[in-house]
Amino acid sequence: MALLTSFLVALAACLPVDQDDVYVYAGVEYGDTCFCGNGIDNQGVPADSSNCDIACTGDSSETCGGDYYLDIYWSGDPPPPPPVTVYQVGHWVLLGCYSDADGARTLTTTSDLAPSSVTVESCTSYCYDGGFNYAGVEYDQQCYCGLAIENGGQPINLGNCDMVCAGNTSEYCGGSYTLDGKGAMRRPATDAEQGDPMT
Ligand SMILES: *[C@@H]1O[C@H](CO)[C@@H](O)[C@H](O)[C@H]1NC(C)=O
Repeated sequence: MALLTSFLVALAACLPVDQDDVYVYAGVEYGDTCFCGNGIDNQGVPADSSNCDIACTGDSSETCGGDYYLDIYWSGDPPPPPPVTVYQVGHWVLLGCYSDADGARTLTTTSDLAPSSVTVESCTSYCYDGGFNYAGVEYDQQCYCGLAIENGGQPINLGNCDMVCAGNTSEYCGGSYTLDGKGAMRRPATDAEQGDPMT
């Protein structure tokens, strides 16, 4: 991999390392942290390489990014197309991204789909088979069903539903967001979808 450039990143730009996926960008930060991705996200912008001056914990003769600065390497392969928001699947249409809360679910039935199989398609199909007319995917691997939007779930900005599905990284499956900078509290957001009883 060749060094692409040094980027300034915000904490929100941190990407999970998922062993099952292949990524074209690798980044090292703060000497000891490795991130992977297929895009430069969250407004990361190029920064002076002098900011990436922390020695790698694995080899102190090399530098591995800096304090909130990331050295990004590129494999040379083109990144795959970015994930899409699925607006329609069969007779199901996207109502929007909805707020959700632990203990007071917007859609009250939790599916027993295997987390790794959750996609918009598998969740709507599961909920349809169960006789529900709402389906929601959340936090990349959760699927909820309901007969109504409950517990004060509200439409929120679609940008909050920005996590890719565990079962298909080409589409979005809801999201989560952190209320305080330390990540102690998490409130999930749901893509709620309504079914057509005529399917
Ligand atoms: C994955 O999602 C994309 C976008 O919705 C879709 O075009 C593709 O068919 C899906 N792949 C599978 C295996 O379901």
